[in-house]
Amino acid sequence: MTEESDAPLAIDIKGLTKSYGSFTAVDSLDMQVGKGEFMGLLGPNGAGKSTTLKSITGLVRPTSGTILVNGIDARNHRKAMTHVGCVIETPECYQNFTPGEMLSYVGKIHGVTNRELAIRARDVLEEVRMWEWRDKHIGQFSKGMRQRVAIAAALLPNPEIIILDEPTSGLDPRGMIEVRETLRNLKERGLTLLISTHILKEVSEMCTSMTMINRGKTIISGDVNTLIHNMAQSERSITLDIRTLSVMTPAFLSDVKAMTGVSNFERTGEKSIRFSFFGSDEEQADIVDLVASHKLRLLSMNETGADLEKLYMKLTEDGEVNVR
Ligand SMILES: Nc1ncnc2c1ncn2[C@@H]1O[C@H](COP(=O)(O)OP(=O)(O)O)[C@@H](O)[C@H]1O
Ligand SMILES: [Mg+2]
Repeated sequence: MTEESDAPLAIDIKGLTKSYGSFTAVDSLDMQVGKGEFMGLLGPNGAGKSTTLKSITGLVRPTSGTILVNGIDARNHRKAMTHVGCVIETPECYQNFTPGEMLSYVGKIHGVTNRELAIRARDVLEEVRMWEWRDKHIGQFSKGMRQRVAIAAALLPNPEIIILDEPTSGLDPRGMIEVRETLRNLKERGLTLLISTHILKEVSEMCTSMTMINRGKTIISGDVNTLIHNMAQSERSITLDIRTLSVMTPAFLSDVKAMTGVSNFERTGEKSIRFSFFGSDEEQADIVDLVASHKLRLLSMNETGADLEKLYMKLTEDGEVNVR
């Protein structure tokens, strides 16, 4: 594929493998990010997220596989990175700088002229809502503020693609909300975003597509809404709260525990229990029948929806899953 070809993907990774000695950190990974997409690279610690992002941005050299950025081979690093802004490791070296100073430094690296810089710096600092802090020392900022300054620096050369490694990691809830809002705004402006995260909720709330990886391998990849819907369907995990009119007998309790799909069993009272349930509607109806067969009279059965976070834990534990 050449640079001039019709609308190449923003990022196209095929068979990416990165080994450190005999250890394979990323294993034949495929990932496609279309222009204007917001891709979440999701996986637990050690899954290979940073290694993947570093391979794209030229910070590590892949063992094998191909990476095209806007149709340009990532090995042609300077050219491929022309339209990419990234924050892979939150830079600590800028502590004594102000955001204004940091941006002029970054601007010089990218050959931005002084005139242009004044305009761009204001634009990007306003974008991340840090303009009023431009003359304060970065060392005094919260982690969330520092992350937003780092995003401003990535935006300075006016890139089309933004790559961020765990942009909300280590932030307090407020910091997380502010960074997420900044990212949503960038998506609205038509930028292509690729972020890594270990938080499923973050992907489900912000991203348009996701690639879930574990132990360096792709587990699932595609449109967020479709995948999450399919995940919830294929592995229905709900919490059931059951209340009965009379006191639950030991025989009933052991029968419930033995039912298909019942786990995390908890006795919440003399006449109430709670447990996680993975199963079909039919199997759930069997539990209602069980209550009846023990003549306890069902007072209520409440279900709390699929806990996607738990589901994700389960998916990444098993290493592979088929939900397509
Ligand atoms: N430079 C390195 N040398 C050896 N092993 C590494 C190196 N960098 C990363 N790893 C290993 O590769 C795996 C993936 O790491 P990483 O990409 O940082 O995962 P993530 O960002 O998803 O937490 C981990 O097991 C990590 O210990
Ligand atoms: Mg990482």
